[in-house]
Amino acid sequence: MSSKRAKISGVGHYLPDYVLTNAELETMVDTNDEWIRTRTGISERRILKDPDKATSFMATEAAKEALEDAGVKAEEIDAVIVATVTPDYFFPATAALVQKRIGAENAYGYDMSAACSGFVYALTEGAMMIESGRMKKVLVIGADKMSSIVDFTDRTTCILFGDGAGAVVLEETDENGIIDFVQHTDGDEDCSLYQPAGGSMNPATAETVESKMHYLRQDGRVVFKKATEGMADVSLEIMERNNLTSDDVAWLVPHQANLRIIQATARRMELDEEKVMINIDKYGNTTAATIPLCLYDWKDRLKEGDNIILAAFGGGLTWGAIYLKWSKS
Ligand code: ACO
Repeated sequence: MSSKRAKISGVGHYLPDYVLTNAELETMVDTNDEWIRTRTGISERRILKDPDKATSFMATEAAKEALEDAGVKAEEIDAVIVATVTPDYFFPATAALVQKRIGAENAYGYDMSAACSGFVYALTEGAMMIESGRMKKVLVIGADKMSSIVDFTDRTTCILFGDGAGAVVLEETDENGIIDFVQHTDGDEDCSLYQPAGGSMNPATAETVESKMHYLRQDGRVVFKKATEGMADVSLEIMERNNLTSDDVAWLVPHQANLRIIQATARRMELDEEKVMINIDKYGNTTAATIPLCLYDWKDRLKEGDNIILAAFGGGLTWGAIYLKWSKS
């Protein structure tokens, strides 16, 4: 075991140009701007409209920007991990498509399926690859084209999600970087949040399409309760393990599923709202992309040595947190 840690040395992003506003959703389903903003905190979200483009396109653009930000060449990358629940295909993996398009000829790549916790799971794996001493540079991407699995006639889900991608380059460091992580899974056999068809349980048929089984389904109230508890619990767990008080924490980077879930987590951590990265108003829930999109939006405000907690909750059920000390330079 080496004594190295992993640090984030570059951050990149991709957001489609098309802005789907609450006002436009009002013309599509029986909803209104006030309901959406007060229940979720979302004002608008981005949608990838181009029919020829999918998750790998957004992931590739985010990866290129992260590599440039880190000053790392694609050939130096040892592994590419793409967290997504909306891969271009079941196989080949979206990570394989990204690996080819960016020219990461010395890397292997695979996808991580952990819904909204995908990025924190993937970042944990990337960090452990580097800590092991076997890998020097790893690209971790969170990317989802949620519009491909959202039923735009279902007002309970279509208001929540958006498309986007974020990426980070991980490199080894002697100090700071990713210090600790806690991850949890509790198999959701009740299917409170899932996509019923397309897998081996319900392969695609005319009937599965007819009954809209290829779209995401969610028991919103059940997931809301579990997410509110889970994200706060895991954030406190990682603070306690590392003897961190709320004064020690510079930033919380929460998964952006619902503003009320984020605020409840911040309250339990006793954190002021200025320390919480929130961009759900602009992008909605981009699933695996929310956390790296926050890191991208805030990257110029992060200072060397800042204590940062990343926290997520999502389908699976999955939840987890990462504690890192910012060390980009
Ligand atoms: N516009 C207007 N009214 C609506 C809408 C809408 N878009 N959607 C639902 N309503 C109505 C409901 O029909 C209900 O009406 P009723 O009382 O007459 O039955 C009422 O509003 C309240 O509905 P609730 O479901 O209780 O609303 P709630 O406050 O729970 O908010 C929401 C719903 C936003 C979905 C919330 O439950 C939530 O955020 N859940 C968690 C989402 C989450 O964290 N997902 C995990 C990550 S996603 C992933 O992993 C892929």
